Amino acid sequence: MSVIEWTKDFIIGNNKIDLQHMELINIYNALLVETKKGEGNNKIKEYLKKLADYATLHFDTEEKYFEEIKYPSLDRQKKEHLDFKKKVINLIKDFQAKKIRLNMDILDFLKDWINNHIINEDCKAREFIKKASETNLEDNINGINYNISGEGNIVFFIHDNIHSSNYFSDILHFYQKKFKVVTFDLLGCGNSLRNNKIEGDFWQQNSEIINKICLKHKLNDIIIFSYNFGCYTALNTALKYPELVKGIVLYNPEKPIFEKEDLKILMRNREKSKKSSESFFYSRMHGDDWEEVINNDSKIFCNLKDGKKNIFPHKQSNIKCPVNTFYSMKDFNSEKFLNFLEFSEKIPNSRIIFENYSEDPLFLKSPQKFLLNFENFVKALFSQNVS
Ligand SMILES: [Fe+2]
Ligand SMILES: [Fe+2]
Repeated sequence: MSVIEWTKDFIIGNNKIDLQHMELINIYNALLVETKKGEGNNKIKEYLKKLADYATLHFDTEEKYFEEIKYPSLDRQKKEHLDFKKKVINLIKDFQAKKIRLNMDILDFLKDWINNHIINEDCKAREFIKKASETNLEDNINGINYNISGEGNIVFFIHDNIHSSNYFSDILHFYQKKFKVVTFDLLGCGNSLRNNKIEGDFWQQNSEIINKICLKHKLNDIIIFSYNFGCYTALNTALKYPELVKGIVLYNPEKPIFEKEDLKILMRNREKSKKSSESFFYSRMHGDDWEEVINNDSKIFCNLKDGKKNIFPHKQSNIKCPVNTFYSMKDFNSEKFLNFLEFSEKIPNSRIIFENYSEDPLFLKSPQKFLLNFENFVKALFSQNVS
């Protein structure tokens, strides 16, 4: 009997759940390997328990998510999950009491259940998930794909310089209840036009796109949330369109100066990601040609000439709006922080906030906790309390 090979057929369209399915399959495969080694192997018991525990955790996550998005087949899901849990618990009991031996028939059952349940049941939710994270308004300007949803103060989300709006699709429903949310795919990324010659001041171009979207939809007083290298798109926008940007929230910003050594690290990490589970993350963001997307992005960095390695070659003192920067203590990088600290001290209205609960990527790990911080910042902005 062979292992379960994870393929794209298993993707249901929610990052967290898809990653859990991958992990469930990994645990099953490990159990199979141990079982094949023969009886008396302590690891069989260990992996069997791991499978039961992880399945429970996964079912809880999945049921909660289905409840949130009001998935109509939730009851059927709950029933199947419960049946499986009972069967596995009984299996463990019988195995521990030495009533049964873990043979290939049992592994066959587990394999069939995992395969069938994910592909035939969980994947039925695919269309529903897509609709739940879909937007009220989808459009494109010059090949840039974007969408606008929800009501309230206007918030633009940017993840990074290879940002795709898919990154936020799993948590968007929290924010749509409170804000008018604009997500977009940067040029060359997500569903935007593929462009093999992204050159020049990439961060500048992206701020122009934000302005175009705002002009077209008459959006004012926007708040930009951005992360990593995307932070420089937010700051550029505030500098170039001071009337447009009411406030900025940054999360774990990258260093403003990009050195040759950083390029080497970036290239190494990109190559590694092609062979790791990160490839799944990238393919969800950008689609089948994701490798080309990250290669293009690496090219942008390679093309930064010596004199241009400063990716924000402007005067920070000209940024007029409040800038709140959050740092996660769980993946804290002191070098990155110290570089940004020096940079941000020159921004007149800048605050740095440390969070010890959030992790990268913060939105996926603790969206509701962060939402509270975010709401407070926005409230203060509009009541002029930010000094
Ligand atoms: Fe599932
Ligand atoms: Fe399920």
